[in-house]
Amino acid sequence: MARDQGDRDGWDARYGTAELIWTAEPNVFVAREAADLPPGRALDLATGEGRNAVWLAGRGWRVTAVDFSVEGLRKARRLAAEHGADIDWILADVRDHRPRPRGYDLVLVAYLHLRAEDLRDVLYRAAEAVAPGGTLLVVGHDLTNLNEGVGGPRDPSVLYTATGVAAALNGLEVVRADRVTRVVVRGEIEHTAFDTLVRAVRPG
Ligand SMILES: C[S@@+](CC[C@H](N)C(=O)[O-])C[C@H]1O[C@@H](n2cnc3c(N)ncnc32)[C@H](O)[C@@H]1O
Repeated sequence: MARDQGDRDGWDARYGTAELIWTAEPNVFVAREAADLPPGRALDLATGEGRNAVWLAGRGWRVTAVDFSVEGLRKARRLAAEHGADIDWILADVRDHRPRPRGYDLVLVAYLHLRAEDLRDVLYRAAEAVAPGGTLLVVGHDLTNLNEGVGGPRDPSVLYTATGVAAALNGLEVVRADRVTRVVVRGEIEHTAFDTLVRAVRPG
């Protein structure tokens, strides 16, 4: 059995529904932070059902999107087709995938929750993949979400802190590294989720 096949099978099972388990809309922080960027080459690591990749493609980005879930990418392809988005899909484990260094004007890592050492390596390569003048966006469930917020993994070891993410971004200039809030509606009740949001650029 391949490494952590169980994780992949678990995601395939979650995505094995007809409906999207996330939404067709981009994540609020991705939309906000990327809105002012001139379109270029974008890399979406752990794209899931492709909501952020499709939104970026709709704004003129040439998007490469990676995920290890066959079912996730199946739904992402469907979402892209519905929006007329042409995206380069890559079925791969981000712990093995080697993006082209300096190859992208935007690298996005959204809600990818891995063991700390795996995440550190993925973030290192994500930062390396940012071209001069390019941007890295990392967003994920914050460690404080465990006790103060809703949703997200229950294992504290895979949750984010802004300082932890910022420290892993070799060679980039951190523009912001914050805990941010997001409204989550369940039933008719509004809850607050706490995320880590880090935006960094490669000088040049
Ligand atoms: C919470 S979803 C987020 C999806 C997307 N980034 C978004 O914001 O909608 C996490 C995604 O990470 C993917 N994932 C988890 N571990 C991975 C790995 N080692 N390699 C590639 N994808 C992975 C899962 O398949 C899943 O699609």
